[in-house]
Amino acid sequence: MLGNKQALLSESKPSIPLRAAKSPKQLLAAASMNVVQALTLSRFALMCSVICAWYIWVSTKNALLETTTNRTTSELYTIVTSNNKQVEVENYGFDGKTLFGTLWVQNIAYEKSLKIVYSTTDGNWNNALEAVYREPSFDGYEIWEFSAAVPLSIAQFYVEYKTAGGIYYDNNDAQNYVVTLPPSRDYCIGSQYDEMNTIKSGFQSDITEYFSAAIPHFIAHLFKNINPEGTARGVVVAAPQNNTVNNYFFHWIRDSALVMKTVNQIYMAQNTRNKTLERLFFDFQNITYKMQNENANTGLGEAKFNVDGSDYTGDWCRPQDDGPALRATTFMQFANQYLSVGGSSNIVKDMWQNVILADLNYVVSQYTNKGCDLWEEVVGIHFWTFGAQRKAIHTAAKFASSATIGDPTSAARFYKIAKTLDGSYSKFQTPGSLHFIKAVLRGNNAVRIFDAAVPLGAIHNDNGDNFFSPTDSRVLTTIHRYVLSMKQEYPLNTINTTNARGLPLAVAVGRYSGDVYDGSGTSAGNPWYIANAAIAELVYRAAGMFTKVGCVNVDMDNVGFFNGEEPAGLGLSVSIGSYGAETSEFADIVGALELYGDLNVRRIQNHGAENYHLHEQFHRETGIPQGVSDLTWSYSALITAQIARNELLFGKKY
Ligand code: NOJ
Ligand code: NOJ
Repeated sequence: MLGNKQALLSESKPSIPLRAAKSPKQLLAAASMNVVQALTLSRFALMCSVICAWYIWVSTKNALLETTTNRTTSELYTIVTSNNKQVEVENYGFDGKTLFGTLWVQNIAYEKSLKIVYSTTDGNWNNALEAVYREPSFDGYEIWEFSAAVPLSIAQFYVEYKTAGGIYYDNNDAQNYVVTLPPSRDYCIGSQYDEMNTIKSGFQSDITEYFSAAIPHFIAHLFKNINPEGTARGVVVAAPQNNTVNNYFFHWIRDSALVMKTVNQIYMAQNTRNKTLERLFFDFQNITYKMQNENANTGLGEAKFNVDGSDYTGDWCRPQDDGPALRATTFMQFANQYLSVGGSSNIVKDMWQNVILADLNYVVSQYTNKGCDLWEEVVGIHFWTFGAQRKAIHTAAKFASSATIGDPTSAARFYKIAKTLDGSYSKFQTPGSLHFIKAVLRGNNAVRIFDAAVPLGAIHNDNGDNFFSPTDSRVLTTIHRYVLSMKQEYPLNTINTTNARGLPLAVAVGRYSGDVYDGSGTSAGNPWYIANAAIAELVYRAAGMFTKVGCVNVDMDNVGFFNGEEPAGLGLSVSIGSYGAETSEFADIVGALELYGDLNVRRIQNHGAENYHLHEQFHRETGIPQGVSDLTWSYSALITAQIARNELLFGKKY
């Protein structure tokens, strides 16, 4: 696999010319001058987001009623070969009309017949559909597929495989395959956004004030960690500490991709050529190119690099496959914005050829494989990583077909893979009547459902198609349970529930319950600023999306969150049903989401260090900052939370 990757990389890599340098001081000064513009979303960006969101909603509405379960090729291969199975479901889905999927079938006889035998909710098992041969697979297996209209009341199925010599079944280890429609993500018919009043009853004035004071500092602190003294240009350090207790003075691929994504959001908010910010991206491109070509241990899957751009060779959890995906998306988002304000298409083509494609090729080579999670601990298939990969491939399919790149062959290739990834995304959903999102599948050493990876995934990997996005009921119910688990986890949540002015605080949340990483060693884990910021951003975005659609569906999944006791729930009392923008339930839900977001920000404010510095964590009992100080990601998470809040708060103006 490594061999292939390297072959791919060495094919098309003309060296990138070095570009003229600016000192970090100049960069910081130039960046800070733009703080004010950075805080106000431009008229254009907002108008676009409103119109586009409506358009996307309308155009994708009918494609969303679909549930799918999938297994990766390597997992399936292990299952069939180690259990000597004759037939196994690879994936299946139901879109409300058609049941479709693929099977792995051992080629034990030339003549075979494969049937999908299914039941309906009344317990009737007298229906079946035929599968047909598609293509050979490896080691004597074949891929068969099925696709046929079935009643909406379909409940379960198993597979029957007949040859002259025998009859074999795959009944999912005696559980059958359960067919469910995902919770309502479709039947909410809202009014158009421009007929709507933006509801902002939940916003707290102290948080508006806090953000206005804090954001310029957060931006300045963030820029200080881009190319600080002693680092190669383009390097983004995770934090400045470099001592034996804490050493975060490395360029992490994940952290830097997310930080540069935030830099791009600042650039987008300005919506004009800002050569200083553009330069940061070109430097980031150059250092990325260097890192991609280091021949590091796991190639592009390395989690972090030294600050001179060389590969880190010590022990680490590797590979971490979220990094290249996040980075590719960040580059493409930047390139789109850069082009839209009149940037050079040659520079964008160069970026595509020299760094973006390498990341994408890596994503394509890895998405079926297990890797380390974003917390660098668990080897498995991860909701966060998979979402990042899916988003990168979708973004690539569009980007490759753009006028600037004009590469329909790559576009078609990415589009096809994107569809495969779409088909597999639902595998993170738990079966049963409530649909939670599992953070890790087939984790080697852990089972995790309620993990900060879920809110982080829902905000960063949202592909604009309402799948595991902030308004998805499965996301909201998972968030609720995650917050409840965090409430138990940290004594701080009982000891300290209000700030000095007596105003209520959200539940302090961390990575997952049972975490032992205390910021320097292992004892007992703490709440993390990025986790509370992710919850805030998620609920602001959910409120914004509901508002744009003009409707909220209350269903079996999200009702627990809406009606759950505060501070983990929204403390409402709404019934299952569909609520249009004119109803009091709609206003209650949107207002409560805004408040929920603000209480999360207030929690962060309450435990932040002096002068708007943010560490990585705050103490589980005392709330005192812990771990590295000035974690770059902490700043970027607060900045993007405020951008989401501003979109909602000032939306009505545009
Ligand atoms: C263990 C932590 O869980 C992980 O997240 C961290 O990156 C490493 N230690 C290194 O600090
Ligand atoms: C530890 C975190 O768990 C990981 O997600 C992060 O990338 C590194 N620290 C660097 O900030």
